[in-house]
Amino acid sequence: MSPVLLSVSGVAKSFRMHLRGGVELPVVQGVAFEVAAGECVVLGGPSGVGKSSILRMVYGNYGIDRGIILVHDRDSGAMRDLGAGDPRLVLDLRRSSIAYVSQFLRAVPRVSALDVVAEPMLAAGLGREPAREAARGLLRRLNLPAALHDLPPATFSGGEKQRVNIARGFATGHPVLLLDEPTASLDAENREVVVAMIGEKLAAGTAILGIFHDDVVRERVATRLVDVSHFSARQAA
Ligand SMILES: Nc1ncnc2c1ncn2[C@@H]1O[C@H](COP(=O)(O)OP(=O)(O)OP(=O)(O)O)[C@@H](O)[C@H]1O
Ligand SMILES: [Mg+2]
Repeated sequence: MSPVLLSVSGVAKSFRMHLRGGVELPVVQGVAFEVAAGECVVLGGPSGVGKSSILRMVYGNYGIDRGIILVHDRDSGAMRDLGAGDPRLVLDLRRSSIAYVSQFLRAVPRVSALDVVAEPMLAAGLGREPAREAARGLLRRLNLPAALHDLPPATFSGGEKQRVNIARGFATGHPVLLLDEPTASLDAENREVVVAMIGEKLAAGTAILGIFHDDVVRERVATRLVDVSHFSARQAA
């Protein structure tokens, strides 16, 4: 049995709508699943059910109302509860253990694509030159024209930005990888590259939690599906 690297249990989340008099909008409850090394667990269910929200909770972007989110800490080898809301623990785990490819790249002004990709490798302790060299290799593999490597991604096309985002998320050997529709705006050739990169991560023992709207990609990468409709707090309300 492969070790479990991500374990979510009893997680509930509602949004407080400040612009609507602080009304509580429940989204999910009783969220529970595990992802083991070498697994790609795909979150499914209709639009608005809470798939992206679950990824953001697991990455520590959204706080949770209750529950436990245990992430394998590569530094200590222990499972640590990221759901407890300790911001230092969240930053620590992001540096060492948990990577996230969001649906859209949040570009930092004036930082080149190459440095956006190299940054998590530097944070994880790699030297500047090897990190930039590895970043260049990843961007090349994803067919990002060399002329763009040294430019900030702010003006890139949707698919170019997404490839920078993917390169950044895949740059480190973090044990847990979160993917929110990474192939959504890619052409067939680059989709193939990403499917291959996912396969390599799985072979290396990474635990992947992802969302894939593209049925063909999902069929090829998913080792298991988790239907988020089962956790919807709206049906129950
Ligand atoms: N920051 C937020 N504030 C308020 N409501 C939010 C916030 N983020 C998400 N929601 C709400 O939570 C629900 C779930 O959204 P989420 O983005 O997780 O859905 P999804 O399953 O990823 O949908 P899609 O397949 O369309 O991407 C939606 O009703 C959304 O409006
Ligand atoms: Mg979504």
